[in-house]
Amino acid sequence: MKADFQIWRGDASGGKLVTYSTEIAEGMVVLDAVHQIQAEHANDLAVRWNCKAGKCGSCSAEINGIPKLMCMTRLNELPLNKPVLLLPMKAFPLIKDLVTDVSWNFRVKKKIKKFTPRAADAADGTWRIFQQDIDRVQEFRKCIECFLCQDVCHVLREHQLHDAFIGPRFLVHVAALEMHPLDTEDRLEDVKKANGIGYCNITKCCTTVCPEEITITDNAIIPLKERVADRFYDPLKMLFRFLFRSKKIIK
Ligand code: SF4
Ligand code: SF4
Ligand code: FES
Repeated sequence: MKADFQIWRGDASGGKLVTYSTEIAEGMVVLDAVHQIQAEHANDLAVRWNCKAGKCGSCSAEINGIPKLMCMTRLNELPLNKPVLLLPMKAFPLIKDLVTDVSWNFRVKKKIKKFTPRAADAADGTWRIFQQDIDRVQEFRKCIECFLCQDVCHVLREHQLHDAFIGPRFLVHVAALEMHPLDTEDRLEDVKKANGIGYCNITKCCTTVCPEEITITDNAIIPLKERVADRFYDPLKMLFRFLFRSKKIIK
């Protein structure tokens, strides 16, 4: 059986959708079809990929309008009675065809204060921590940095507020650090100001597209918002901080 694929071809200066037809077989994923189209019709078609196992986060694109990993999207999950639409991610500058420049994400990550563990416990000289504390941050560590959540977030995608908002992926990263029981760094001022958490209006689109099923909004963003509200808008805590100049009340 043959299927049609409408693929964006072009670069930052412009381009167009080009339709390709290719033979498909049981078990194929979208990335297989793209590779086949490269081999048969378009040797210069640019596509980024690496593991073909949903673990490197490289093959992110928009499939029929939804941010997805091309290597994890089976063709039999898609309606093939019309062309499969393949577009590059919209939230990042286009390099060529399906490849975007995601380097902004790595610059953002560099600006986040790093993990700063306390000294080993004086009592027994270890960094022993409770299992429930490990469980809480473990979910966040599944992130493969595909940036699909960044792509779907309207703050970056529609409003292009890349200078003011770090996006859901990095709020997950900050949450993992802030909730780590051994960490001593204080990032709440940054979360409120430089990281722009106030721009998130909890639409949960990021959670919907995450291929690792990280509960981004409920488990990372909302707890961070609560910490910011406690720190900066709770009158009792503000008074306490004023009186005692407490640097960090809650960890
Ligand atoms: S919940 Fe917040 S971070 Fe996630 S997509 Fe919506 S606005 Fe963006
Ligand atoms: S949080 Fe999920 S969607 Fe966002 S970059 Fe990580 S794995 Fe991808
Ligand atoms: S190729 Fe690695 S996640 Fe798709």
